[in-house]
Amino acid sequence: MTYLRVIGAGMLLLASAGAYADPCKIAIDSNDMMQFSAHELAVPTTCTDVEVTLRHAGQLPAKVMGHDWVLAKDSDQSAIVNAGLAAGLSHGFLPENDKRIIAATKVVGGGESTTVKFSTAALVQGARYVFFCTAPGHSSVMHGKFLFGDIARVAQAGK
Ligand code: CO
Repeated sequence: MTYLRVIGAGMLLLASAGAYADPCKIAIDSNDMMQFSAHELAVPTTCTDVEVTLRHAGQLPAKVMGHDWVLAKDSDQSAIVNAGLAAGLSHGFLPENDKRIIAATKVVGGGESTTVKFSTAALVQGARYVFFCTAPGHSSVMHGKFLFGDIARVAQAGK
């Protein structure tokens, strides 16, 4: 029995290592305390597509403590947040068809997760990007830097 459990744990470790081996796939957590699990994310320019999975490890529902993950240029963050506030939860706290939004997930509540996949064709190496949550009042805490860079810089950012 113990032996089987050890094998099971080993397989879980292998599975999670596999999930993180692809640098074009990013997982980020959030919680009931209005926090993202990372303040800096980085993907190498070799990624033609990026997949971001946002998990909400908390228990509060989306209408109370919902989170999303939005990627934009640094200079566009506050305008998107303000427009998202006006749009409200029924629109995922996002303005419709807003070209300033590079990528965005839907809003998730506790226990949920969501994934967005987007092309990096419009991303410029070295440009400053930010990711943030557009739920009301969240972006001042729930935000971070997003680097689209060469592999050496990405490896550095991960440390
Ligand atoms: Co949030």
